[in-house]
Amino acid sequence: MCGIVGYIGKRDAQDVLLSGLRRLEYRGYDSAGIVTIDGSNQATLLRANGKVAELGKLVSTNQNKDSVGIGHTRWATHGEPSEINAHPHRAGDIYVVHNGIIENYKELKAELKDHTFVSGTDTEVLAALINSFYGVDTSLCDAVSKALQLVVGTYGIAVVSTRQPDEVVVARAGSPLIIGVGKDETLIASDASALIGHTSQAIYLNDGEMAICRRDGVELQDLNSQPISAQVETIEVDMQAIQKQGYDHFLLKEISEQPQTLRSTLNGRVIVEDKRIQLGGLNLTVEQLKDIEHVTIIGCGTAYYAGLLASYYLEQLVDNLTVEVVIASEFRYRSFYMPKNSVALVVSQSGETADTLACLREVKRRGVTTLGIINAVGSTIAREVDGGVYVHAGPEISVASTKAFTSQVAALTMFGVQVAQAKGVSVQRTAQYVEELALLPDEIEKVITTHQKEMAEVAKKYASYDHALFLGRDTLFPVALEGALKLKEISYIQAEGYATGELKHGPIALLDDRFFEVVLLMEGWLFDKSISGLSEINARGGHVLAITNSAKEIDAETVVRVDTKLDILAPIALNVLQQLFAYYIAVARGNDVDQPRNLAKSVTVE
Ligand code: M6R
Repeated sequence: MCGIVGYIGKRDAQDVLLSGLRRLEYRGYDSAGIVTIDGSNQATLLRANGKVAELGKLVSTNQNKDSVGIGHTRWATHGEPSEINAHPHRAGDIYVVHNGIIENYKELKAELKDHTFVSGTDTEVLAALINSFYGVDTSLCDAVSKALQLVVGTYGIAVVSTRQPDEVVVARAGSPLIIGVGKDETLIASDASALIGHTSQAIYLNDGEMAICRRDGVELQDLNSQPISAQVETIEVDMQAIQKQGYDHFLLKEISEQPQTLRSTLNGRVIVEDKRIQLGGLNLTVEQLKDIEHVTIIGCGTAYYAGLLASYYLEQLVDNLTVEVVIASEFRYRSFYMPKNSVALVVSQSGETADTLACLREVKRRGVTTLGIINAVGSTIAREVDGGVYVHAGPEISVASTKAFTSQVAALTMFGVQVAQAKGVSVQRTAQYVEELALLPDEIEKVITTHQKEMAEVAKKYASYDHALFLGRDTLFPVALEGALKLKEISYIQAEGYATGELKHGPIALLDDRFFEVVLLMEGWLFDKSISGLSEINARGGHVLAITNSAKEIDAETVVRVDTKLDILAPIALNVLQQLFAYYIAVARGNDVDQPRNLAKSVTVE
């Protein structure tokens, strides 16, 4: 979603801001802009609709040597994508970039009669509000803090003034902001990836905090101007991890690196020789794990589907454990009840998803223990949960989530085994999970190496259809949902996932020659029932792509067979094939694979 960068130092601010915005492109956006201020208090404001490359063209014809400025990539919420709605927004001497939503912007706007509004954004209202407090004797910081006390909503903001060109004021409530501390320079970013290569030292702003950033340091305070001591942390992401490294797209890189990312997820946690799982970081004693009677798994999109798949494993592993999987944006506003001895597992790649964060806070407010299954180290959700497991999949740049899903399922499964161990479940029952978790990286590697070309060919066959149905039973049902989500996100083919058994309860009415059907099949007790679903489609002239780990004869237009040692965890392998399938279809259709239209990587507004 929207991205913020800021700089104050000795280098050319335009260069630093532009390169920071390029790093944030993956988050999804529709316009971009920067403002810099020179030594004689003049501002250069440049904004462009469309890609950062368009802004880059503007910068090359308006270059300057200013060493302070702020920049933004905007994902439209209030007002269409356009140059006039792009940030920074100006009011008087000040310029503002903003992530989040000012919910009471209409009420505030009605009071701001001295400002002539030119954009349709809530951010211009915020700029005008700050400006209304920015009298001749007021500091920028005081004006910002007074304005923010009237604001209802979420924000991460950076503000500069032509009157005080030696500082950038930033503040946060619900939308991440990180301050990079360098030598004679300070950088600001809404995402650590924009800081990599500049500094590894960072201050993560908490909600309700603001900071005055100068060349030689940072002053932190709360909204009432009370000083706060800053905690400088080390960012651990390296440059390699955020580059394509020869791949055509980040998505293909991220699908391909799953064997390694899984190794990082499992490393030191799967103790094969003892057939045990050892997760650090849960902050729960064996006794507390033993007492868990109910698990609520919370997430959105792919993270929700990872939770859904893992819920089958948790139920299979532990008797007398109820497991529910909920969509964060729904659960948050329901009159839900979580019984005593509940644990909430909050699943998120970015650790910044606003719906998931709001849900986490509501669950915490009710006194429930919360554990995070998070990828982004230091993210807001990771900081607010009581404990948890980092999945260590590394930065996921492509908007479509792939490697995070795989690692989330692995991490949640490890959690299930650890609870089972604590509850005294027999090793015979948990051993197969531990063994298959240990096998997972090599097996996924084999699947990718063996089937990549095949999936590229299969994708060509189905790339021109308008609609798709993904079907699976049992643990393949969540995989069908995830397969459909992946395909629709990057190919724009309308794709729906269903439990195979549901086919005849409605969706079968849709089938015609504009449809193809992906039927997921696994060896096991539901194989024959799944075949019945396939036959029902064949009987209606369907175009079935069957993806299976079975060697049995299957009557389908196309069959992709996976030879894997995985059994319980085979759905993860079949999902990797779906990822490749969706990727090659999107490529065949000429789509922007890494930044699909209308989507944002990190959805930081509710
Ligand atoms: O960062 P999160 O895991 O919390 O994100 C949740 C969803 O927004 C995300 O999985 C989304 O559905 C992806 N675009 C799926 O590919």
